Amino acid sequence: MGADLTTIAKKTGFSYHSTIVWNEGNISRRTAWGSWASASAPYVIAPVELIVVLYKKSWKKTSGSGISDITRKEFMDWTNGLWTFNGERKKKTGHPAPFPVELPLRCMKLFSFAGDMILDPFMGSGSTLVAASQCNRKGMGIEIDHGYCEIAVSRIQKEGGYTGDL
Ligand SMILES: C[S@@+](CC[C@H](N)C(=O)[O-])C[C@H]1O[C@@H](n2cnc3c(N)ncnc32)[C@H](O)[C@@H]1O
Repeated sequence: MGADLTTIAKKTGFSYHSTIVWNEGNISRRTAWGSWASASAPYVIAPVELIVVLYKKSWKKTSGSGISDITRKEFMDWTNGLWTFNGERKKKTGHPAPFPVELPLRCMKLFSFAGDMILDPFMGSGSTLVAASQCNRKGMGIEIDHGYCEIAVSRIQKEGGYTGDL
């Protein structure tokens, strides 16, 4: 998937920079083993997700406020591209495939300046926009399912602490 996505992105004008591996640590969906305890056709599943880091034109960021809010320790830890923390519980957000707020929060503090606009074209229950609100970024989400939009609005207010219009 990561290789295919990178190839498609490059064809549409993005350049590849690096890959972060999120070690989710647990495989909750494990049901398929392939050929059980046999070398004939076993399945191998890695409990990780890839974050493919891409850019357009220049890697060096020149727009925005120029204000970084990442701490020295966060910068040292997060520029090591193996991130280990647990996934999100489905029950907590009401969405079947949420990621934890920690994931977009790290990406924003590492790759964007305070006040930047963050776009999530597949918003789901709004974890990205919760993170944006928590770290003083503006957020824009697109979601096809109206019910998930309502969950996102509620989460942005409760978890993101946002009190303005949505
Ligand atoms: C993997 S989920 C995102 C979950 C999100 N990261 C969260 O933490 O809740 C992908 C979302 O994309 C939405 N989606 C799928 N096709 C879409 C489309 N064409 N336009 C907008 N949203 C779409 C789905 O309804 C689903 O909620």
